[in-house]
Amino acid sequence: MTVGNRPIALRGAAEQRAAELRAELRHHDHRYYVLDTPEVSDAHYDALMRELAALEEEFPELRTPDSPTQRVAGMPATTFAPVTHRRPMLSLANVFDDGELSEFDERVRKLTGEAQVTYVCEPKMDGLAVELVYEKGRFVQGSTRGNGVVGEDVTANLRTIRSVPLTLEGAGLPQLLEVRGEVFLRTEDFKRLNARQEEAGDQPYVNPRNAAAGALRQKDPAVTAARPLSISFYEVGEVDGRAFATHWEKLAFLRELGLPVNPRNRRVEGLQGVHDAYAALLEDRHGLPYEVDGLVVKVDSEDLRLRMGAVSKAPRWAVAYKFPAEEAETQVEDIRVYVGRTGALTPVASLRPTKVGGVVVSRATLHNQDELKRKGVRIGDWVFIRRAGDVIPEVVAVIPSRRTGEEREFVFPTTCPECGAPTAREEEGAVIRCTNEVDCPAQMHQQLLHFASRNAMDVEGLGEELAGQLLRARLVRTPADLYRLSREQLVALERMGEKSADNLLQAIERSKHVTLRRFLYALGIRQVGEATARTLAGSFRDVRALADADVERLTQVKDVGPLVARSIHHYFQVPTNRALVEALLAAGVAPTPPEEVSGGALAGKTVVLTGELSAMSREEAKAEIERRGGKVSGSVSRKTDLVVAGEAAGSKLKKAQELGVKVLDEQGLLALLQGG
Ligand code: IVH
Repeated sequence: MTVGNRPIALRGAAEQRAAELRAELRHHDHRYYVLDTPEVSDAHYDALMRELAALEEEFPELRTPDSPTQRVAGMPATTFAPVTHRRPMLSLANVFDDGELSEFDERVRKLTGEAQVTYVCEPKMDGLAVELVYEKGRFVQGSTRGNGVVGEDVTANLRTIRSVPLTLEGAGLPQLLEVRGEVFLRTEDFKRLNARQEEAGDQPYVNPRNAAAGALRQKDPAVTAARPLSISFYEVGEVDGRAFATHWEKLAFLRELGLPVNPRNRRVEGLQGVHDAYAALLEDRHGLPYEVDGLVVKVDSEDLRLRMGAVSKAPRWAVAYKFPAEEAETQVEDIRVYVGRTGALTPVASLRPTKVGGVVVSRATLHNQDELKRKGVRIGDWVFIRRAGDVIPEVVAVIPSRRTGEEREFVFPTTCPECGAPTAREEEGAVIRCTNEVDCPAQMHQQLLHFASRNAMDVEGLGEELAGQLLRARLVRTPADLYRLSREQLVALERMGEKSADNLLQAIERSKHVTLRRFLYALGIRQVGEATARTLAGSFRDVRALADADVERLTQVKDVGPLVARSIHHYFQVPTNRALVEALLAAGVAPTPPEEVSGGALAGKTVVLTGELSAMSREEAKAEIERRGGKVSGSVSRKTDLVVAGEAAGSKLKKAQELGVKVLDEQGLLALLQGG
């Protein structure tokens, strides 16, 4: 190759790559916008789009008018009447890190000549954009964004969203008001919807956004109505007879008219302000009742916005600062079945390691045999994985287009892969368990780890590896054997120094002084988590009293239903379990019952938190309530004493009102916490 023709070869390669990228992007647009069944993650799509944009930047002659970089979005589906937006609905450019955000801010300052710019920062809701037209305050038409110029008429479906006012209230209503916002599903509503889908034998949705899109584009509004969509407004289109000096003022106006506006929106000063808002939102991300995939940063001044204008598909005055992707694609290298503490068999995919949300993931759960079957995952498949917050990464779906025919079907074992005992399916539910309740090594291992874990007996230093060593050396079979370990036995173990042996013995000794709550939790009784253990400790105050209780007595305990009661009763009927408790007590473990709670302002009260809190996160509120003797529960029932309703509270608030349960707003909660 000569120096002279290198650029030509390069250009040729670029041209070919650009064509490939365009074809791929068009395919994904179709899957996403028209079929509602995307097969790649947003992050993957963004990467393709950025690669194409970069190529076109370098070789401008490749920038054809039909390039996906040159239009606003995908194609409208053909089944709804088209609606031409009076003003195009633009999209947002993305930035992915601090550096790109600074470049945005620099550009804004350069274009406006301002030294520092005021921004409005809004959570980027993960749903779909719509436009609603109000004439003299009456809702007359609603449409999807479509390709930004032409969308679909979904008026009837939007009417079913209860937070969409059909008429606006207030003085000075504009003759014409176009409002724009995001239709989305709250995480809880999404889960409920998917549970229903599964019950009905239908495919569950991959994520809330697809579920929302599916619901909004239903031909039958009654079907939409059955899916609890939410909406939040963040912009206007054409407005007659009303101008706004700032975006902030505009948002306040929308709120006054009764249109839902996100309470998490913030007005901030300059780049530092945006950084702070981003960090705060990222931190609270998983406490919010809906999915957020980034922070939208908008110039506040409408005058500055006008001066800046837009490039082909996005305004120059706004940008989406995306969160690290929580979805990724990777390949399943193997499928293994793990046996848990209670004998439950869980299929887990071993993955080609990949980064998701800033963390390298190499395993993802497939939950259970039914899920595995439903998703149809084979060894060798390319899959879509998702990791949300602290939860275990899961396999969301197979990417069928990447199958080569080399994939292997996985056969679920009919005996325990660890001890060979037969497995059995639980009466209710999809769990398959190893039936060996006595000496399955995998169960023993997990039980030992659970017993020693931080929130149980807290035996520091007894981790995965040491637990395995102790079991293999037959020094320990049950947790009670820990209390008989000698220094000589420990020192004889591989990689165990004298110092570590002493530390472990001390930790074991310390664990004898334990609260009854932790002790009950440490036993690992099925259905007994930390909260139930706390209730049982308060109610029985002695482990033998609990062991002797019959099912009826157990169901009298607050929050203990028949399922939990049966599980506790069954546990103590198994002779080895009863023997374990006696052996622990004989070894000197002395569980202490809780002090009677009397002082706490919320002693014995069950509180439900719903809606959005602004002064503190949900976790903080929960901790504060528990410190005062209260208990936080997830659902409202007749047993609920108090419901705290933050902004935009929904179905739980309604239920509380129906049941006549006392309701406080966030201010009320703060007053209560301060008073107590
Ligand atoms: S403003 C010209 N604000 O993100 C400004 N969009 O990637 C247009 N979105 O199409 C949009 N939350 O579907 C805006 N607070 C928010 C948003 C938001 C979510 C979505 C919307 C938009 C897409 C752009």
